[in-house]
Amino acid sequence: MLDKTIVKLLNEQINKELFSAYLYLEMADYYADNNLDGYENWFYVQTQEERDHAMLIRQYLLNNGEKVQLAQIAAPGMDYTDFRGPLVKSLEHEQYVTASINNIYSEASKINDYRTLQFLDWFVQEQGEEEKNADDNIKKFDLFGGDPKGLYMLNSEMKTRVYAPPSLVL
Ligand code: FEO
Repeated sequence: MLDKTIVKLLNEQINKELFSAYLYLEMADYYADNNLDGYENWFYVQTQEERDHAMLIRQYLLNNGEKVQLAQIAAPGMDYTDFRGPLVKSLEHEQYVTASINNIYSEASKINDYRTLQFLDWFVQEQGEEEKNADDNIKKFDLFGGDPKGLYMLNSEMKTRVYAPPSLVL
């Protein structure tokens, strides 16, 4: 059994992770529409990672005998007007997700829920990586994305990203 507040927050986090998957899928589609298949690939891999995050939380709740409650996933509905837009939005979004994970961590800490804290440690580290990746993408775009050759090279680099299952196994 887990504390009711923690269960509620973890269920809400499942929704946030699935929304993240939607948000990144929309970004992948935006780049696909603009023939940038490398950026499309990068965000499609990101979509898969976000789905994994949601499934890890689902499994954690189930492993602890708690009910998973799925809620409606909002449409991202972003309307990007330039190639930099999704990169900036992804950093903002990861900062939002980090704050959300930190809030659950804080609540678990208050009630000495060591099991949930240990589970969340992986997410804390993951958020550090996600923010760094998003920040790197903006920096690289600002350095090299301004001319067609540079954008071509960046797009080729983004195409090399390969999906890997999460290192956390429950
Ligand atoms: Fe699941 Fe990008 O945080």
